[in-house]
Amino acid sequence: MTKLKWGMIGGGEGSQIGPAHRLGAQADGRFEFAAGALDHRAEEGRAYGQRLGIAADRAYGDWTEMLAGERNRTDRVDLVTVATPNATHFEITKAFLEAGFNVLCEKPMTMDVEQGEEIVRIAKASGKICAVNYCYSAYPMIRQARAMVRAGEIGKIRLVVTNFSHGHHGDAGDAGDANNPRVRWRYDPAMAGVSGQFADCGIHALHMAGFICDDTVEKLSADFASTIPSRVLEDDAMVNFRMTGGTVGRLWTSSVAIGRQHGFDIQVFGETGGLRWASEQPNQLIYTPVGGRTQIIEKGEGGLHPDAQRLSRVSIAHPEGFPLAVANIYCDLADAINGEARDGLPLAPDGLRSMAAVYAAVESAKADGAWVDARPPMFR
Ligand code: NAI
Repeated sequence: MTKLKWGMIGGGEGSQIGPAHRLGAQADGRFEFAAGALDHRAEEGRAYGQRLGIAADRAYGDWTEMLAGERNRTDRVDLVTVATPNATHFEITKAFLEAGFNVLCEKPMTMDVEQGEEIVRIAKASGKICAVNYCYSAYPMIRQARAMVRAGEIGKIRLVVTNFSHGHHGDAGDAGDANNPRVRWRYDPAMAGVSGQFADCGIHALHMAGFICDDTVEKLSADFASTIPSRVLEDDAMVNFRMTGGTVGRLWTSSVAIGRQHGFDIQVFGETGGLRWASEQPNQLIYTPVGGRTQIIEKGEGGLHPDAQRLSRVSIAHPEGFPLAVANIYCDLADAINGEARDGLPLAPDGLRSMAAVYAAVESAKADGAWVDARPPMFR
């Protein structure tokens, strides 16, 4: 198997998501870490890149230097990951797609709906892959849940309820604290966009609801709150939504829920059964058939749907963590770059749908929870 070459922008030393990408991309030996512009400080980025094993001439000071350096190489990178704060995603993703690179962009893909539509158009015109890192959808038991829904094993879906609520931004001291820049940018409209917690974590939950139900969000009604008053953007949101197929959706996302750790879970209720999954026990899918006993479906056990079996890397009962879900995204990307399309890989239209939902939620929250069309104009 020929190794693909991989480059990364952002994800510098001490960043939150950088290590998960490096582990994920290299877990299966399908990508070689060949280039990077890892930090907003040029020298720190160059030095860290070299410490991670990138050749000195490919450890770049910033992304424009990386684009100029990579575009004319015969051994240029096959995939570029964009793991910088939100405000930079659009211009970096756009520039690399236009130069003919495949891109994996962090969520939220863009700052607004217009940028999202532009990325979808550019990706289509370029013929390159633009994926978005909705990595939770690559857990084997989420693939099992989706396959069960698709196979009609819990009947038509009536209701989906999901939470992504943690307490890690619950310290009011962090709200304006220059020493905690990783918390601060998430509530700064110039860096994060029009939404704080909903765009940071809520869109993972919304994407997951659509992914498992095999449906898209049509409209929503949102209640936003900044429970730490100095925050311009919301740190708590309750969002009701409806899917195109009629499924009723409920979503709570919060960053001030002290005591909740990762706090991402989802329940899907169909006419003939229910499913439940939580990110803190990702190996287990809880299944209850109507009128029957609750069962635990374990990652790696016999009889799983093929997509869940394919992505179960570690044998039954052994722990399988977050970087392996990211690794599943990279595995599907390597297949896709090699010409084998993978159903389930989150792509630019998924990133765009999230942006449209973020804008709809902001508009709804300002209008006291009025119902707002959540579909991007391009997909109406
Ligand atoms: P962070 O603040 O921990 O790290 C950001 C990194 O990007 C730093 O190393 C910084 O030096 C670097 N950086 C900033 N601007 C840059 C630029 N112009 N060029 C090169 N490097 C630059 O942020 P975190 O938490 O790692 O988030 C980054 C992105 O990943 C965000 O968009 C966030 O929403 C997303 N994310 C996604 C997660 C997921 O589950 N898919 C989980 C956590 C974050």
